[in-house]
Amino acid sequence: MAGIIENGVVRRNELVGPSIYLMQIELPETARKAKPGQFIHIKINDGTHLLRRPISIAGADIKKGEIEIIYRVVGIGTKRMSMLKEGDIVDSLGPLGTSFTMDKKHIVGVGGGVGIAPILFMARRAKEGQMTVVIGGRNKEEVFWKDLFPSTVKKLIVTTDDGSCGRKGFSISVLPELFQKDKVDELCVCGPGVMMRNAAQMAKDALVYCEVSMERRMGCGIGTCLACVCQETKGGHKKVCLDGPVFPSTAVIL
Ligand SMILES: Cc1cc2nc3c(=O)[nH]c(=O)nc-3n(C[C@H](O)[C@H](O)[C@H](O)COP(=O)(O)OP(=O)(O)OC[C@H]3O[C@@H](n4cnc5c(N)ncnc54)[C@H](O)[C@@H]3O)c2cc1C
Ligand code: FES
Repeated sequence: MAGIIENGVVRRNELVGPSIYLMQIELPETARKAKPGQFIHIKINDGTHLLRRPISIAGADIKKGEIEIIYRVVGIGTKRMSMLKEGDIVDSLGPLGTSFTMDKKHIVGVGGGVGIAPILFMARRAKEGQMTVVIGGRNKEEVFWKDLFPSTVKKLIVTTDDGSCGRKGFSISVLPELFQKDKVDELCVCGPGVMMRNAAQMAKDALVYCEVSMERRMGCGIGTCLACVCQETKGGHKKVCLDGPVFPSTAVIL
């Protein structure tokens, strides 16, 4: 489904973690339609950047008509975004792409890095006790996300590579224990490719349905330029912007 172009007023844009910013933008139509897993495509208004930048929706407040995004500054586009001030205008195309399935009884959401953003949106939309969340980072500075999750989640597990916050190790290392202790109906994963690949394998071994959110560089964001294709397990190709970014883990090559 094609998104809509809205020019939204920036309500908040501040540093919340290492090179990571949280931005709230007034985008009433996008907020009304947004589902966890979907993204907005942001135009970088500096006259030199023609392509938009895809950023997951981390939250949508329908009453306020606002959406929230959390992004890491990695290059020129995100640097420009970080310089926007309250009252500035953002040109957004969205919401775009597919969303996570949210009708299962017990969902485990795992996020790594900025891949935690769509898992946060899921947790904000989930019913009380429906979601267990696992977030991971290299150190305690990188897991600032823990304070953004609602208290309605069944359990929030934090892991750090150096053990400075929560359990020591990678986020997905807790999955076998979770699958063993509790009935898990769905696993949703967003993060680096290797993390999603290993998580999907663990879900397969435990016979748990799994969805992943794929990341590709994007051009148009609406299925016309083919910049974002990924390979299907059955041989063909899928467009991450249109057929994804959320796919059943068995449908695509991770
Ligand atoms: C569906 C989707 C959702 C996303 N959600 C988020 C989010 O919630 N928060 C967030 O911080 N980022 C997110 N990203 C990644 C984000 O789009 C890129 O970081 C951003 O486009 C980089 O723009 P730039 O101009 O700052 O960097 P550029 O100057 O274009 O590139 C800087 C560096 O980042 C790498 N890069 C750029 N785009 C991507 C990409 N799509 N995937 C992997 N590497 C890339 C480049 O290879 C280069 O090394 C998402 C990407 C997709 C496809
Ligand atoms: S970004 Fe153009 S087809 Fe996906």
